Amino acid sequence: MKVVHTIEELRDQLRGQLRVSFVPTMGNLHEGHLALMKTARHHGDPVVASIFVNRLQFGPNEDFDRYPRTLASDIEKLERDRNVYVLFAPDEKELYPEPQQFRVQPADDLGGMLEGEFRPGFFEGVSTIVLKLFSCVQPQVAVFGKKDYQQLMVVRKMCRQFQLPTQIVPQETVRAEDGLALSSRNGYLSADERAEAPALYRVLNDVKTRLAQGARDPLALEQEAAAVLQQRGWQVDYIALRRQHDLNAPTAHDMQAGTPLVTLAAAKLGRTRLIDNLEMLPG
Ligand code: PAF
Repeated sequence: MKVVHTIEELRDQLRGQLRVSFVPTMGNLHEGHLALMKTARHHGDPVVASIFVNRLQFGPNEDFDRYPRTLASDIEKLERDRNVYVLFAPDEKELYPEPQQFRVQPADDLGGMLEGEFRPGFFEGVSTIVLKLFSCVQPQVAVFGKKDYQQLMVVRKMCRQFQLPTQIVPQETVRAEDGLALSSRNGYLSADERAEAPALYRVLNDVKTRLAQGARDPLALEQEAAAVLQQRGWQVDYIALRRQHDLNAPTAHDMQAGTPLVTLAAAKLGRTRLIDNLEMLPG
């Protein structure tokens, strides 16, 4: 694997390549990331991965400063898996040599809800860096995890609406044996919090079961799920049952017609904010 730090070196490595498959990350790689790389390998060749902790997508009170930066061990993991041909690991000066005056802002009905409501500016930061990285790598394919469900939708729509020639491939969420979705932020959890964390996935599964059994009131399902977590000491940002295709709330007709749905959740355990989601169908 070649490790490059500048856009010029990256372009040198990729000259003439017609089927570049790309996985953008912020590093601190875990099995979930490695699954993205494997999927990328199925869809193209060579595979390019990037590691860059993007300041623009962090709010002023978020974890930009303490976000784990583990480049040496990330490189080891990628070397061991042998799916990645080039790792692009730029510093801030390379990607933001001057204040970023042009930014991509998704409209409120996509980027302002759910994560966008609780993390103002988050999707602007993500869309801007993804467009910038796509412009550096010029991939034919890029793989994004379904754990960040809304991010995947935002990126997919950005590509479609800017007519970018990059196909976005979704990757199923990778979970620990107890159900907790893998995330770099799991590393912030204390031992007690780590033991409690799978409750998030359990309540999503409860919503799925209730829905399959014929429950028809999305609001009641959301409130019950939130109450379970709150009783266990979580601070819930949202638990939202939405339509898969546009993340809007399902209508009575959607509930009757079996429209594909997804429940998205974000909640804090102590100082650590976790997100997860589960796709489901009305029964
Ligand atoms: O999902 C992430 O790790 C980040 O949001 C991404 C897509 C690498 C952009 O910084």
